[in-house]
Amino acid sequence: MQQVNFSVNEEPPSISASIEGNHYPLPALWLRERCQDAINLDQITKQRLFDPHQLDDDIALLHVEKKGQSKVSITFSDGYVGEYDLTEFYADFDPWDGAPVTKAWKSHSDKSSFYIPFQELTEQAGLIKGLEAFLIHGVIIVTDVPNEPDAILDVASKFGHVRETNFGKYFEVYTRPNSTDLAYRSVPLGAHTDNPYRDPMPGIQLLHCLDNQTSGGLSTLVDSLAVIEQLKREDPEGYQLLCEVPVRYRYKDKSVELIERRTIIQTDTSGRVEGVSYSPRLDYLPLLPENQLIPFHRARKRLGQLFCHPDFEWRFKLEPGQLQMFHNSRVLHGRTGFDSNEGIRHLQGAYIDLDEPKGRYKALKQSQTI
Ligand SMILES: [Fe+2]
Repeated sequence: MQQVNFSVNEEPPSISASIEGNHYPLPALWLRERCQDAINLDQITKQRLFDPHQLDDDIALLHVEKKGQSKVSITFSDGYVGEYDLTEFYADFDPWDGAPVTKAWKSHSDKSSFYIPFQELTEQAGLIKGLEAFLIHGVIIVTDVPNEPDAILDVASKFGHVRETNFGKYFEVYTRPNSTDLAYRSVPLGAHTDNPYRDPMPGIQLLHCLDNQTSGGLSTLVDSLAVIEQLKREDPEGYQLLCEVPVRYRYKDKSVELIERRTIIQTDTSGRVEGVSYSPRLDYLPLLPENQLIPFHRARKRLGQLFCHPDFEWRFKLEPGQLQMFHNSRVLHGRTGFDSNEGIRHLQGAYIDLDEPKGRYKALKQSQTI
């Protein structure tokens, strides 16, 4: 986390925070709403016990008094006097909200920290290690997973709750003639995000290999964070269009029709790139004037080229007993084609939501420091 320093001035009364040379004055209203005493703030849940809409718009600081290293007493114009521990505000200035900082990777990056044996995940220290690796890289490969159906649910339960879809708790990936999705044929699959037509999109996907007797059918993974960094450097205008213009994704079978519109590059509320919704078998160009449509097409095409470029695409054989777990929109997945006459290729897949691994990681880290 970045270093946050607070300055307290008693005359005239003011408090400000400094981070890396930037100064942020803390307004009286902001401070008043964050009062920390037990009458106004439940000390266990840290949930507020008063109605902040009752606060005056023009509330002001009347008096500020230092009470030690990080403590301060503040008197407000509405008569409230409160003791504050300024270190409680650290979290307000943490852009990563306590999660590890992501690190973009390329095909030749060292991936030794991506691998973790299933047994290690059953111990707290091993689970923290696995969660941390996943949050930093957006992917881990769990090894020595029992080679049996349903083992995927045991792995998923270490990281979150399985998100059931119309495919069930988990889905089977093996060749089926006339199936409703190309994933169930033996054709190669380029890098893609799963199910951009759902709301929300599946956050995390697990794919467990039960059997792979084919010489093809290699797994491919690519970190969109690394690819988008490159696209942004090469083509800022195209990057911006892919951040702003939504495209339409659709899935239909006998029981359901799912349609969602979302931008190809996904950013969070601070503008930080989180990943993509990218499925070139499903998306169509949005209706734009030609002077935007052509740059949009060009940027989308370049994105596709970079996703399968050897500098970015990691290609490997997922062996029976191995399970790849990846952030569905950050790390795109695919596979090379295979000849189903060579033997069986059988994977099982499941989805969990994004928030749970982050939440479990923070709770486990905090329990270590207590
Ligand atoms: Fe997929």
